[in-house]
Amino acid sequence: MTTRINFNGDITENLSISFYDHGFLFGDSVYEVISTNKNRPCFLYPHLQRLQNSAKGISMNIPWSSEKFTEEIDRTLLAAGNEESYIRLIVTRGEGAVDIDPSSCSHPNVIVYVSDEKKYPEELYMSGVNLAVVSVKRNAKEALNPGIKTGNYLNNILAVVEAHRLGAHDAIMLNASGNLAESTTSNLFFAHNGTLFTPALGCGILPGITRSMVMRLAQENGISVEEGSLPLEALISSDEIFITGTVKRVMPVTQIDGDSIGSGRPGPISKKMMRLYENLLDSELPYDPAFKLNF
Ligand code: PDD
Repeated sequence: MTTRINFNGDITENLSISFYDHGFLFGDSVYEVISTNKNRPCFLYPHLQRLQNSAKGISMNIPWSSEKFTEEIDRTLLAAGNEESYIRLIVTRGEGAVDIDPSSCSHPNVIVYVSDEKKYPEELYMSGVNLAVVSVKRNAKEALNPGIKTGNYLNNILAVVEAHRLGAHDAIMLNASGNLAESTTSNLFFAHNGTLFTPALGCGILPGITRSMVMRLAQENGISVEEGSLPLEALISSDEIFITGTVKRVMPVTQIDGDSIGSGRPGPISKKMMRLYENLLDSELPYDPAFKLNF
């Protein structure tokens, strides 16, 4: 149960960050969450690829190469010494004037946070979670593109707070056009007559790495997947629903706004995708430095 934090290459047990860091002042940062299997980071290279894309999306240059990240992550994992870990990479704009203009920031700060793995209770995978459709809309792509994984998560925070107030585990967020977007830290899938549906990237969502892998696994296993602009009604009348994310992996959803979906139990496609994804994590692909995703 150890936490270690690597700050620009120095590993400590705890970290205080400068008041003047624009990550603190304005949420001006990018980040990634990575899980491990046998304490090896899963899909490290696609996560680093997405981190670079996010940095590009906010005009920030990350001072570390992929090789440097790999080295520093390994060092931090070793220093923490957990059996399985939760890894959070954060790159902040760095210290500057108390002014939103980032041009006063001299250099980004790179942080590798490693703690014991975070796990969702097993019961949730057996029962499925309940989600609430919240009034908070996902940021418009033209405002703050949800495809950029920035440290500015207030949009999602407002949505999860509303969902909890409504007695749900998490939220379903719609986009400004009223179509399905995603959950607050996960992507959304539903099945109808044996076909899987998921909002297209153009709907304004994060290009989830788990989402990509689940789509690929489904297709490889004879389940067709359709991406598109999807209305809420299609979700409500679906046979089964699940959400995907690095930490939760594939999590069944059995209630929306308190109403049961399908049989009210995790459905056969959700269970199949849960199993296929677990098997994938035990294969060599997630650890292959040559494995890239097209974001
Ligand atoms: N969240 N959508 C949002 C808004 C997310 O924050 C995440 C990930 C996902 C799923 O992406 P991936 O499969 O690449 O983890 C979708 C991470 C886990 C987090 O912030 O904790």
